[in-house]
Amino acid sequence: MKAAVYRQYGPPDVVRIEDVPKPVPGESDVVVRVVAATLCTADWRLRRPSPAPMGWFMNGFSRPKKIPVLGMELAGTVDSVGAAVSEFKPGERVFGASWRFGAHAEYASVPARSLARIPDRVSFQDAASIPYGGFTALHFLKLAGIRAGQKVLIRGAAGSVGSAAVQLAKHFGAHVTGVCSAANVELVRLIGADGVIDYNHDDCTSAGPVYDIVQDTIGGFGYRRARRILKRGGVFIDAGPGFASLFIGPWLRWTGRGNVIGTVARGGREALEVLARLVAEGKFKPVIERRYPLADVVEAHRHAESGHKKGNLVIDVAMVPMSARAAR
Ligand SMILES: NC(=O)c1ccc[n+]([C@@H]2O[C@H](COP(=O)([O-])OP(=O)(O)OC[C@H]3O[C@@H](n4cnc5c(N)ncnc54)[C@H](OP(=O)(O)O)[C@@H]3O)[C@@H](O)[C@H]2O)c1
Repeated sequence: MKAAVYRQYGPPDVVRIEDVPKPVPGESDVVVRVVAATLCTADWRLRRPSPAPMGWFMNGFSRPKKIPVLGMELAGTVDSVGAAVSEFKPGERVFGASWRFGAHAEYASVPARSLARIPDRVSFQDAASIPYGGFTALHFLKLAGIRAGQKVLIRGAAGSVGSAAVQLAKHFGAHVTGVCSAANVELVRLIGADGVIDYNHDDCTSAGPVYDIVQDTIGGFGYRRARRILKRGGVFIDAGPGFASLFIGPWLRWTGRGNVIGTVARGGREALEVLARLVAEGKFKPVIERRYPLADVVEAHRHAESGHKKGNLVIDVAMVPMSARAAR
């Protein structure tokens, strides 16, 4: 089968299309015939790697050893299942995300627990774009205890996580302000933000203590700045990259110095089903900026790494058979 393989860390062009053996399902796995994948932030971060220690920990110190094919999110049809998998049958439309990666290929082996069925009327491309941004936004907003009527600020509102967070916060009944560049003001309004701040013209920290939740999906904002605009008891979600988000937040919370949430977002089938239902009902629409054929995956890496993509980048891996297409 064709796959986008990387055998050394580095810039986008370390990724090459090669012929590799088709995966065989482990006992609890499903082999998915991939129709659409995405190029998400986790993919380019693991390719560089960035932050380096995290990449080395996940995929080997001097070169990629465990994960030769990137692609965390995918949607496609079930090709075959492991002996212990009873919930999926060949031909069914499924989507999901896995830390095993491997979706930038014609077939990928995914743990069954990381997959859910794609509802009718939801396309493979929309389904593939649900998990990364959707899981992260849902996980953090729920941890922050979001409630109707609250005021929420999302920094990085045009990205994959940010665009999902804007829509899900609106779904929970919050009043949402998004922070992005001028180029994305219209997009952020279109997906439901009540207010938009262009970070090149206005300082989002000048508002005073008006927000119940401040979410940073860029990194580097810090609790000290967030505190200026948070109401008493407000929550700072530090969803940016790096160790600061993973360790400083929990430490501030543990020592009672700040109401900060910073962890690795998680979500299994239940979260996938919740998010897919919202998409099917038209309450959440994953933003897709561009679609690339698998052969152009290097271009997609370049664009994602720029830090200015809008929502999600879809990698079209296979032509869809008529019988497996979404109903719309
Ligand atoms: N903790 C976790 O579990 C977890 C899970 C998933 C992702 N993350 C992290 O979340 C971050 C966001 O990921 P993503 O996939 O959503 O990124 P992305 O899709 O690449 O989005 C980046 C967005 O940030 C915006 N941006 C750049 N500089 C900005 C600034 N100074 N102020 C406001 N917006 C700015 C860009 O919009 P403009 O072009 O308008 O600037 C762009 O749309 C990543 O660093 C990722 O590592 C963490």
